Amino acid sequence: VQAKGANLYVTLEPCSTHARTPPCTDRIVASGVREVIYGAGDVDRRNAGGAGRILSRKKIRVVKGILRKECEKLNEDYRHWTTKKEPWVILKLAMTMDGYLAIPGRRWITGSKARAEVQKLRAGCDAILVGAETVRQDNPRLTVRKAFRQSAECRNLDGVQPWRVVVTRSGKLPKGANLFRDRHQDRTLVYRKKKWSEVLRDLYQRGVCRLLVEGGLETAKSLKQSKKIHELILHLSPWCGRGKGPRWRHVGYETWGQARFRPMGKDGELHFLP
Ligand SMILES: NC(=O)c1ccc[n+]([C@@H]2O[C@H](COP(=O)([O-])OP(=O)(O)OC[C@H]3O[C@@H](n4cnc5c(N)ncnc54)[C@H](OP(=O)(O)O)[C@@H]3O)[C@@H](O)[C@H]2O)c1
Repeated sequence: VQAKGANLYVTLEPCSTHARTPPCTDRIVASGVREVIYGAGDVDRRNAGGAGRILSRKKIRVVKGILRKECEKLNEDYRHWTTKKEPWVILKLAMTMDGYLAIPGRRWITGSKARAEVQKLRAGCDAILVGAETVRQDNPRLTVRKAFRQSAECRNLDGVQPWRVVVTRSGKLPKGANLFRDRHQDRTLVYRKKKWSEVLRDLYQRGVCRLLVEGGLETAKSLKQSKKIHELILHLSPWCGRGKGPRWRHVGYETWGQARFRPMGKDGELHFLP
């Protein structure tokens, strides 16, 4: 693609400082772009207002604030991470129509389409968290499979797996669990007897902007009580009347700003946004 003389449209003010990547403004100047149109200003003080100054000096026209509110919404996770110094938390659970999170004798509640969506969701997050009981009962891997590591949503294009996070009070975790024995074992973190604010602050410091919580119910309930959930994704399977263990209704109800529904094979997804 030839960028020389083009107009560049971006949702967020281009960065102008060195962080994990070099400044976007250097690249814009080098590419010969003629005009930059951006929606929301950067809430990171190191970058705020910088792009306009730097680009104007290089005779690149800058237009800011176009669809500002809509763009702020698109960058809500980044804005939260930057200003609150905690990750944006997405709780995702699969459940039967009557609210059970497990079915006796079945490994999964949902079908392959819904599970592929979970892979995309994982690829779009920097860490995946579960409660200790899920590790003890299910021995999950919590990895992103290769096909999804190259997807457009993927945040770690260099193939690094998201952090795998376990919370526990007792510290009783099986040493032979996949999370502690597989080749990504250096990507597993265990937080014992920590408050959510401590867990989230530590994850923030490790660069975790988007945290996916995959259950179980007790962990979800505890996070909800601490008011730390920002997005809720429920994968609903058509199974009914065969579940086991605690039910979603034990988490309690609350009102969310918006809900989107989409079918996924035989299952459906309800996505609640703030
Ligand atoms: N359908 C789904 O989406 C889904 C997802 C995940 C799991 N599951 C199912 O859910 C069941 C397990 O769920 P569960 O509700 O029993 O347990 P869980 O939430 O997976 O784990 C509960 C344990 O996590 C630790 N924990 C929870 N909150 C904590 C906090 N605030 N601070 C520190 N530690 C905390 C404690 O560990 P200690 O006991 O070690 O102190 C607690 O006993 C399994 O049957 C699993 O198959 C379903």
